Amino acid sequence: MNCDDFPMLKKDIIYLDNGATTLKPQCVIDKIKDYYENYSANTHRGDYDISFKVDQEYENTRELVRKFIHAKYKEEIVFTSGATQSLNMIAFGFFGKFLEPGDEILITQSEHASNVLPWFVLQKKLGVIVRYIPLDSNHYVTIENVRDAITPHTKVISLAGITNVLGDERPMEEICKLAHERNIFVVMDAAQSVGHRKIDVEELDVDFLAFSGHKMCGPTGVGVLYGKKKLLEEMEPQNFGGGMNESFDNADEIYLKDLPTRLEAGTPNIAGVIGLGEAIKYLDSIGMERIAEYEKNLRKYAINKLIDIPYIDILNLESDSGIISFNVDGVFSQDVAYYLNKYNLCVRAGNHCAKILKEEVGVSNSLRVSLYFYNTESDIDALVELLRNKEKIMEEMI
Ligand code: ALA
Repeated sequence: MNCDDFPMLKKDIIYLDNGATTLKPQCVIDKIKDYYENYSANTHRGDYDISFKVDQEYENTRELVRKFIHAKYKEEIVFTSGATQSLNMIAFGFFGKFLEPGDEILITQSEHASNVLPWFVLQKKLGVIVRYIPLDSNHYVTIENVRDAITPHTKVISLAGITNVLGDERPMEEICKLAHERNIFVVMDAAQSVGHRKIDVEELDVDFLAFSGHKMCGPTGVGVLYGKKKLLEEMEPQNFGGGMNESFDNADEIYLKDLPTRLEAGTPNIAGVIGLGEAIKYLDSIGMERIAEYEKNLRKYAINKLIDIPYIDILNLESDSGIISFNVDGVFSQDVAYYLNKYNLCVRAGNHCAKILKEEVGVSNSLRVSLYFYNTESDIDALVELLRNKEKIMEEMI
């Protein structure tokens, strides 16, 4: 669907690595080009027309993001460099301030590094304890397992909405309810969710949410940190400098600006933010429900074909997202990726930054196909055709 909107799809490639980054539609590319060519000024600093235009476009994006994830206030939307920075700000700027030795943070073994490493650092620094919610036989989170993992010391549950290797979707609304009944905060790594599903932060009642622009048709280097206003008010900036302070004196007194500016020190990624706004308009014009439905059907199509190949082991048969992880029996995943690349087919291979998942699933590397709405059944047919002949894979992989 909408393939003609993407210049990269006019090249001779089949792109099935959307979990890593998505392609960009022409309208997003044009919007960024327009900024650089026609009103390339800084934001929130100038007293001249092109600078006002930048402010308007920048703040319009904030409003577009607010509506897109259904946040209550514009001040709850902070622009960052991506989900990784957002998660680091949440861990260090908010939880670093008030967690105490012995407090527990619950994650799972299938989280991406960005939702593991900041917590590990807090564990070392503050003496808090990172614990893992046990997963079920499919390696998925269940509400019962979350309930069982909670102790009187649990202060935070931090989970990906959709994981980046197994592609399982977590019951975040129920998890938030369960957590809030026990005064536990919930952080959602929504990097693999926001471009693929309708996300409503008010309905979920999630405390913090992080995502990246580049995984939803937007540019790289821009992302969003959402936090409930009363919690963001408590967040300590991790970056200090221009833009975020109201004033400071020659002692060391600093007066911070209000939200969200106080959390956006320095010149931001203006082109990125403006491009993200255009990506949101573009996704909205297609409709998030339509995108989710399309991906679901394409996944079914792919699974039905891959399952027929006897030497392919699919790690996540039961997932509902467009992420399919698998191995060709006896062949190193990167060698298969290299073979597919010879036919201009792009997939990701390796551990996908989820380096403790191997202890859970018993497999350290896999091939990952991650779908988006511009992928087609013929993309899947091409993949399956190339995988159907194991001898050819073995001959051509190096
Ligand atoms: N987090 C991205 C992925 O899963 C890069 O591939």
